[in-house]
Amino acid sequence: MADLAATGAKDIALFKDGAPYSIFVIRDAAGVRAFENSCPHARLPLNGAADVFFDVRRTVLVCVNHGAHFDPVTGACLRGPCKGERLRAFPVSTDGESVLIP
Ligand code: FES
Repeated sequence: MADLAATGAKDIALFKDGAPYSIFVIRDAAGVRAFENSCPHARLPLNGAADVFFDVRRTVLVCVNHGAHFDPVTGACLRGPCKGERLRAFPVSTDGESVLIP
């Protein structure tokens, strides 16, 4: 959880079936959530810098590539070229200072 304090988000590299893929975990007033770090527009990572996913007011998630905005609670694209699509969400739980991703 402390890793989420600076930017409200943390990108994490995982492996599935031997292939690398990236997710990111966010924390805000609504709680802790995780999404695949793959924009539905062009399947590129959303962030251009480590752990930077939120806008400056931390109200929406922003894709650095073409400016799509996403609801940080639902992952729905609110504005931009993928409007109406959504980020793939992953279930998470917390245990003290740890974020658990099954
Ligand atoms: S790749 Fe995200 S808006 Fe284009």
